[in-house]
Amino acid sequence: LASTQNQAHRVLTRARLATLAGGAPYGLIEEGALAIEGERIAWIGEEKALPERYLDWPSESLEGRLVTPALVDCHSHIVYGGSRDKEFELRLEGASYEEIARAGGGIRSTVAATRAASEDALLAAALPRVDALLAEGLGTLEIKSGYGLDLESEAKMLRVARRIGEVRSLRVVTTFLGAHALPPEYEGRADAYIDFMAEEVLPALAAEGLVDAVDAFCEKIAFSAGQVARVFEVAKALNLPVKLHAEQLSDQGGAAMAASFGALSSDHLEYLSEAGVAAMAKAGSVAVLLPGAFYFLRETKLPPLAALRAAGVPLALASDCNPGSSPLTSLLLTMNMGATLFRMTPEECLAAVTREGARALGLERDIGTLEVGKRADLAVWDLAEPAELTYRMGFNPLARRIFGGKG
Ligand code: NIG
Ligand code: FE
Repeated sequence: LASTQNQAHRVLTRARLATLAGGAPYGLIEEGALAIEGERIAWIGEEKALPERYLDWPSESLEGRLVTPALVDCHSHIVYGGSRDKEFELRLEGASYEEIARAGGGIRSTVAATRAASEDALLAAALPRVDALLAEGLGTLEIKSGYGLDLESEAKMLRVARRIGEVRSLRVVTTFLGAHALPPEYEGRADAYIDFMAEEVLPALAAEGLVDAVDAFCEKIAFSAGQVARVFEVAKALNLPVKLHAEQLSDQGGAAMAASFGALSSDHLEYLSEAGVAAMAKAGSVAVLLPGAFYFLRETKLPPLAALRAAGVPLALASDCNPGSSPLTSLLLTMNMGATLFRMTPEECLAAVTREGARALGLERDIGTLEVGKRADLAVWDLAEPAELTYRMGFNPLARRIFGGKG
């Protein structure tokens, strides 16, 4: 498989291509070929239809292996200090996520550890987690701030996120999550904290080029829809897209509020109402479902899958990798959980970590399907059937990852 890895242009032959671009289930092309020129897909189709101009390009047989778009993880908190294994044990003894948060544990304990850590230490801690995702064919990773909760520490987290994109061959999309939790120094002054985040921290970080999108946590233990809207007003003025942690533990009308700002996505959504579904459909927001958090918190209320489908809301899945509610670094397991816990079909699960993950990041024109003109970010699997990606548990069939035509 190594022969043409570093060619600026080449043709991959004898591939089963799950294009995710319509037509057959999975957009499957059984006996396919794909031409790569520079970073992009120059041609894709049935091998027997390969145009003459590609016949003298260097070529390589994939021997019937399955090719999918490289995976997209559109929701992660992968940069953080410390660990929450003690809290996990408390929860096993019966304490709830909400109780631990109210007692000053939870997100706040990660904030203390993240503030205390150097940039280098945060990077070193995050890289093994990133590498686990890369080993399963990841091409694009969204990384949120939100454990700093002051100007310097939020900047530090976002700089680490950018550095991850420099020291590894993947695309990193950064998200400012200043409105994640109330830090202890603002106890009893949530509105003042929101003003500080909206008026000082967000504009400063955006000016440094550290922010690709803006997120918040809308919940009883975090911020109200009205408070989040004040942050979103500033995001809008800065021309930054928004997204929201919405309806994870209770219905706060967050998804509808986010939809009114044209949100790229609303995420979690276990307690989403019919009105929330309708608002998301109207705005074109993606539903980012996070089965890792659902599983790890032993949630029993399912997100309203049938209503989301009926309304035509696109479904994405993501790891939500974070130390408190989803210490998960496998998108393959995330897909399996999407099927087993949420009864999504294997085809929905694959689309959810490729095409719809890309849409949730506003990158649907560039990545997420195998189509001419899109980036050649590919995952090659030692499998023939795309459903096997969702079906197996704890098994990694990745043969090779190609990023921007390289690899
Ligand atoms: O997506 N819901 C809020 N934020 C994270 C959890 C963060 C934490 O517990 O550290 C989530 O689940
Ligand atoms: Fe999250």
